[in-house]
Amino acid sequence: MTDSTTLDGGAPPIELRHVSKQFPTSGGGSLVVLDDVSLTMPRGQTTAVIGPSGTGKSVLLKHIVGLLRPDSGEVRVFGVDMATAPEKRVYEVRKRVGMLFQDGALFDSLSTGDNIAFPLARHRSDLTAKERRERVEHVLEMVELPGLYNRPTSALSGGQRKRVGLARAIVTEPELVLFDEPNSGLDPMTSDAIDALIVSMKEKLHVTFVVISHDIVGTLNVADRICMLYAGKVVANGTTAEVTHSDHPMVRRFLGRNLVLPEPGDPAMATLPHIG
Ligand SMILES: Nc1ncnc2c1ncn2[C@@H]1O[C@H](COP(=O)(O)OP(=O)(O)O)[C@@H](O)[C@H]1O
Ligand SMILES: [Mg+2]
Repeated sequence: MTDSTTLDGGAPPIELRHVSKQFPTSGGGSLVVLDDVSLTMPRGQTTAVIGPSGTGKSVLLKHIVGLLRPDSGEVRVFGVDMATAPEKRVYEVRKRVGMLFQDGALFDSLSTGDNIAFPLARHRSDLTAKERRERVEHVLEMVELPGLYNRPTSALSGGQRKRVGLARAIVTEPELVLFDEPNSGLDPMTSDAIDALIVSMKEKLHVTFVVISHDIVGTLNVADRICMLYAGKVVANGTTAEVTHSDHPMVRRFLGRNLVLPEPGDPAMATLPHIG
């Protein structure tokens, strides 16, 4: 992990170049979901990808992990083109990426701890069973669920399932962590606790985060940067301050439904990290 910056020549963790993607519709037509999307996400920062439901946020994320291929354009992760690189290179990149799926995607046949250990078995076969167990216990503490290794996942609450998904996303110590709607379906207190976890993990582990959300308010506490998707296009992309003060009519409409913007000097601004 330590020599990764030299391996990829310092390429940004994520770079999309003119990415387009459409899906066939049942009527014989096609639905354009991503329409010539270009964007770069810088290392060590948290980028929130926001936009209304159905706008292509999850589709974008699936391109980044290589689960979907673009019709045209390039998706580069740590400099590697995920659609055309040899399988071995794609696998090496995947080892450096952690992902929390929208629904948590836990295996209900496995215990809580075995769910978290799953990517370790796949990517860290160099670790002994004892080392894996210790690592799982450690991330369980990080997500404030100490001692739950043997708890069946069916006995977990919605908030606990999210935390377990989060623990699984970080257990391999990835350099890039992708969260699809980490706060959706959570009560405000659990949601705040997840935000606090994301912020403290970024500070402690210096990882690059991508947080997907349909709710801009939910991202303001964690995001350094905001990328707004609408109708297949990136309509805004910049620091949190730049985007929340943007004059773009679509951005204003989206923001207007969500929050009253704090002005510089408002104590509310103090909670926003790294305002540029
Ligand atoms: N594999 C697929 N096949 C066909 N249509 C899809 C597929 N994945 C997503 N879509 C469609 O693409 C659009 C964007 O989906 P998605 O990225 O999941 O939205 P969201 O922004 O809510 O995450 C939706 O209309 C969805 O139905
Ligand atoms: Mg989605």
